[in-house]
Amino acid sequence: MEHELQSLEIEAKEQLTQLNDNDQLEEFRIRFLGRKGRFSGVMRQLATVSPEDRPRLGQLANGVKKKVEKLFEEKFISLQTVSETGDRDDFGPDLTLPGRCPVTGKLHPVTQVMNEACEIFEQLGFSVAEGPDVETDHYNFEALNIPAHHPARDMHDTFYVSESILLRTHTSPMQARIMEAQQPPLRVIAPGKVYRCDSDITHTAMFHQVEGFLVDRDISFADLKGVLTVFLREMFEQELPLRFRPSFFPFTEPSAEVDIACVMCNGAGCRVCKKTGWLEILGSGMIDPEVFKMVGYDPELYSGFAFGLGIERIAMLKYGIDDIRLFYENDQRFLSQF
Ligand code: PHE
Repeated sequence: MEHELQSLEIEAKEQLTQLNDNDQLEEFRIRFLGRKGRFSGVMRQLATVSPEDRPRLGQLANGVKKKVEKLFEEKFISLQTVSETGDRDDFGPDLTLPGRCPVTGKLHPVTQVMNEACEIFEQLGFSVAEGPDVETDHYNFEALNIPAHHPARDMHDTFYVSESILLRTHTSPMQARIMEAQQPPLRVIAPGKVYRCDSDITHTAMFHQVEGFLVDRDISFADLKGVLTVFLREMFEQELPLRFRPSFFPFTEPSAEVDIACVMCNGAGCRVCKKTGWLEILGSGMIDPEVFKMVGYDPELYSGFAFGLGIERIAMLKYGIDDIRLFYENDQRFLSQF
């Protein structure tokens, strides 16, 4: 009987290690620990041994049974764990593996540059105002001294919704809207989307502008130059040579387009600046007295300047991007670089 108990223990251990699911475990339980199982058989033999041997053999049999029951329980627990983690060899996550970093979203590069531009102007005391993308002909053109049939309308390839409703072609309508509603002194920027029926490597049908204007007594062109110089220095993080080139806008007089020394070649002349060494970056000027009259300001009392800058243009120069369409293809490989 002693031998039988020994081999029973060895056999039970061996079989338990080879088991790998709950069904096999249940079979094992019936075969070894069940009412008609191997242990019950051995226990029954106890009745036939001599009374002197019975206590010792009884103890031995109970000891072996307890051991096997313990192993059975351990196996039961390990099978439960396996079915929860799906991993047979380990009972939890492997803490030695490198962590998995969740992918975090980012703002679109155009939004980033837009926010940066707004922050710089806010530091200069400008407040931010936003207006409608769907605009009236009145605010987009008439109130800016561009009456019907004015040749300047040709510069704006306009998307019309109806005869008098359109998608704004610039953020300048906000000049008229704000001046109409508020009295000077004013220092406002108006960021937003604008639309033109135009598209190639430097134009998209929708792009972003930031309009800025300041109205007060005794404002001169020097103030305009000062504000734009500070803005561009902050934006490009370097002291860039600027050039104010005479231009024309119906709502500013005099008007100037501002060029910066080409950021690609430092003014030496390259493909991006078409060998001129300069890049056009914004339109600006002193607000035309006609515009003041239309919003009810006295042009003898007040003067002011206005400017409008293209955000994609600035983003392209800041990051050395040579095709504006990259901003709107939403290729993760491009976007994730900013
Ligand atoms: N609105 C003009 C444009 O879109 C830019 C501009 C704004 C010019 C303000 C002068 C003053 O081209």
